[in-house]
Amino acid sequence: MENISSKEPDRYKKELLEKLASKRAVIGIIGLGYVGLPLMLRFSEVGFKVVGIDIDQAKVEALNAGKSYIERIDHDKIRTALSRGFEATFDFSRAEEADVLIICVPTPLNKNREPDLGFVIKTTEALLPFLRKGQVLSLESTTYPGTTEEELLPRMESTGLEVGTGVFLVYSPEREDPGNTDFETKTIPKVCGGYTASCLEVGIALYQSAIDRVVSVSSTKAAEMTKLLENIHRAVNIGLINEMKIVADKMDIDIHEVIAAAATKPFGFTPYYPGPGLGGHCIPIDPFYLAWKAKEYDLNARFIELAGEVNTSMPYWVMGKVVEALNRFGKAVNGSKVLVLGISYKPDVDDMRESPSVKLMELLQEKGAEIAYSDPHVPVFPTIREHYFNMSSVELSPEVIREFDCLLVATNHKAFDYEMIEQHARLIVDTRGVYKNRSDKLVKA
Ligand SMILES: NC(=O)c1ccc[n+]([C@@H]2O[C@H](COP(=O)([O-])OP(=O)(O)OC[C@H]3O[C@@H](n4cnc5c(N)ncnc54)[C@H](O)[C@@H]3O)[C@@H](O)[C@H]2O)c1
Repeated sequence: MENISSKEPDRYKKELLEKLASKRAVIGIIGLGYVGLPLMLRFSEVGFKVVGIDIDQAKVEALNAGKSYIERIDHDKIRTALSRGFEATFDFSRAEEADVLIICVPTPLNKNREPDLGFVIKTTEALLPFLRKGQVLSLESTTYPGTTEEELLPRMESTGLEVGTGVFLVYSPEREDPGNTDFETKTIPKVCGGYTASCLEVGIALYQSAIDRVVSVSSTKAAEMTKLLENIHRAVNIGLINEMKIVADKMDIDIHEVIAAAATKPFGFTPYYPGPGLGGHCIPIDPFYLAWKAKEYDLNARFIELAGEVNTSMPYWVMGKVVEALNRFGKAVNGSKVLVLGISYKPDVDDMRESPSVKLMELLQEKGAEIAYSDPHVPVFPTIREHYFNMSSVELSPEVIREFDCLLVATNHKAFDYEMIEQHARLIVDTRGVYKNRSDKLVKA
């Protein structure tokens, strides 16, 4: 192995910094999903050539044909990126031509709710044969503190390349809020930690070329923990407000009225909103990455576990409310027709991952309800891990609404005409605080 550090220790760093500054660097993005695709668009927009690698043939073909598969990303944006040199491929050997390799692959939990780093490790190993001097590898997938140093570093070093002089390694978590139009990739500050000072310098230069503000931290571990803290903060606060909802309900107090009043406090209070359970790829999953890792240090992350317990129980609590509500009208769930409104995990998006609506649909079906759903963002029920309903979205009309014994507001999309729904529904169970009034046919859950 050539020892470059003794001759010209900064050669590869300088070359890479120069390529980034002049936008001659080729950016490789591995995993073109909810995180990778907007990142690709941003690097392309600022003038870099981007090569996107994904194992999903359908996605690769759609992108090369100028088609977006994410509702909020216009086809036009993909076409513009293609005209600027973007290419999607499933050929990992194309990684060799990239100066930057950004990994944005999934980090789910396995059946035992433990971290599943399989995608990250497989991707890293697939890249190793094409790793060369002068490249920087950045992991963006959410994960527990230590992943970059424990899993990526030894694999990179196994190629004989020196990390910190020949190749560079950083961790930079993605921050995405699907459906939030106040922020875009460019304006969301990006946290970055490097394995060495040189790695960090390269990482900062990389992200500064596309993002307005880069926040550096002292290590990859600190960057990994930052992302988890952000999501744990949300999971715990949502768990708390869900618990408050149950208490308020027993006391016949509307929790949404209380949150609105508390939110007028100009300091020291941040409103969080209850719902039928947690959804999305991040909040229900990421906290358990830390809880799992903490066990290695003989620690139990009790707030995380408790919030998980409360949040996981919410669909069951909502089911209880549906049972009670139907009962009030002399009906059993078994044989009742229930229409679930909104099946994506949050309002105004098409993202179905970990959606509590799906859990509710399963629970209703188990109890013998005849179910249907309406969601303008999800015209056909997609194939998602472990769940499948052979169904299409029902178009809402007064006649259709009147056919159902109960309407269950699971996700409060703006596109629904709530007034019309209330006018024609026989019974509404509202898990999102859409309806502020009280009426015999409205049950807040
Ligand atoms: N979605 C979000 O809002 C969000 C926000 C912040 C962080 N994250 C994190 O970012 C990571 C990616 O999430 P996502 O939402 O983009 O996931 P996603 O499922 O939308 O996309 C991941 C992509 O990676 C591809 N892929 C899987 N294995 C691969 C492999 N071996 N090689 C190449 N491509 C592969 C998949 O085909 C898919 O296109 C996760 O760790 C997630 O926790 C997601």
